[in-house]
Amino acid sequence: MNRRQLLRVAGGGCVAAATLGALPGCSTDLPAAAIAAWQPPADTLDLRRWVLSHALLAPHAHNLQSWVVDLSAPDTIVLRMDMQRLLPETDPLARQMVISQGTFLELIDMAARQRGHRAEITPFPEGSYSDQAPDSRPTALVRLVPDANVSPDPLFAQVFRRHTHRGAYVPQAPEATALAALQASVAGLPVKLGWVTTSDASAMAQHRQIAIDAWRTELTTPHTLLESYHLLRIGPREIAEHRDGIAINTPFVRALTALGLFDRSQASAPDSSEIREQLQRFNTHIATTPAFCWLNTTRNDRVSQLQAGRAYVRLQLAATAQVLSMHPLSQALQEYPEQAAHYQAAHQLMAAPGDTVQMWTRLGQPSEASSPSPRRGLPAHVRNSGL
Ligand SMILES: Cc1cc2nc3c(=O)[nH]c(=O)nc-3n(C[C@H](O)[C@H](O)[C@H](O)COP(=O)(O)O)c2cc1C
Repeated sequence: MNRRQLLRVAGGGCVAAATLGALPGCSTDLPAAAIAAWQPPADTLDLRRWVLSHALLAPHAHNLQSWVVDLSAPDTIVLRMDMQRLLPETDPLARQMVISQGTFLELIDMAARQRGHRAEITPFPEGSYSDQAPDSRPTALVRLVPDANVSPDPLFAQVFRRHTHRGAYVPQAPEATALAALQASVAGLPVKLGWVTTSDASAMAQHRQIAIDAWRTELTTPHTLLESYHLLRIGPREIAEHRDGIAINTPFVRALTALGLFDRSQASAPDSSEIREQLQRFNTHIATTPAFCWLNTTRNDRVSQLQAGRAYVRLQLAATAQVLSMHPLSQALQEYPEQAAHYQAAHQLMAAPGDTVQMWTRLGQPSEASSPSPRRGLPAHVRNSGL
């Protein structure tokens, strides 16, 4: 459905305009409740809740925020994956879900340092998940220990400023000093960082082609498209109610939804105008992207995936400090069968034989300010408060 069709179905310009106008203010700003978590917590909050209030700002695939914490033992945080919040279609092995546990752990570590504590993190204290599926065992046991020797991490200053930016980037490639800062941010973690900029036109063309092909595959594969449709939160009411997923607050999509013209229970046809428009917008953004970067690991076990998540959030915070943004391109890295050819092409381009590309992202200076995405807030994550 495009704007012209909308006007036709809605009976003409007046009806459509009236419908758009009837949407409260038609503001694209997210409702305040949905982004309230982006306000720094009070310093008087107890240490674990203060730390967790920062950790829940971590990036997470599809913004599912699948973090459940048990606080029943003193000074301890037991982190589990919320088994109701998985992505079985696009992330069938839960690799991205484990990476998203790692981003949370890294922010726990950083916030603890800020308060003079060491976060002693034991990954998978009851044993690791299988290669195929997550389960209800903890992904990490964290003990917060006072330690006069810990130093605050300079990247902590970026926690409230880090946002994923999916829009346009200015065409200038990042400076060498900025790329060096990115490299420094993951030093000491068992990951390999790679990047390419417009100075290598031929490699950039290969990156662009894989990103475009993989995105088309995701949008034209009904089961993966539907998974995303079920996570769309359209308009202020849905966004405030769920505070997760993919928030869309543009007047046009809200109008389509309000008029019952956007049916999220069915995958759009590959040649429908909404799919064509999305592909076109994505392709334009890819064409103007001045750099891509990626994070690889030698092993692809669960601990390596956690480490990749820790590295990814550090990288994004370092980019934020350099006034750069990131936009992950997970499609070609996903393990569902329809992506197999793109998965292979991405690995041939970015990885040594046997290595796994865990994250691949656009990198550049955003053309306009990035906005925060919704968060569910601390109470939604605490299953056993220990009180
Ligand atoms: C493992 C992982 C995979 C991701 N893949 C994508 C992706 O393919 N496309 C995308 O737009 N964002 C992707 N993201 C970014 C999340 O959508 C984003 O972190 C989430 O919506 C929260 O927004 P924020 O990062 O601005 O706080 C990914 C993040 C993680 C941690």
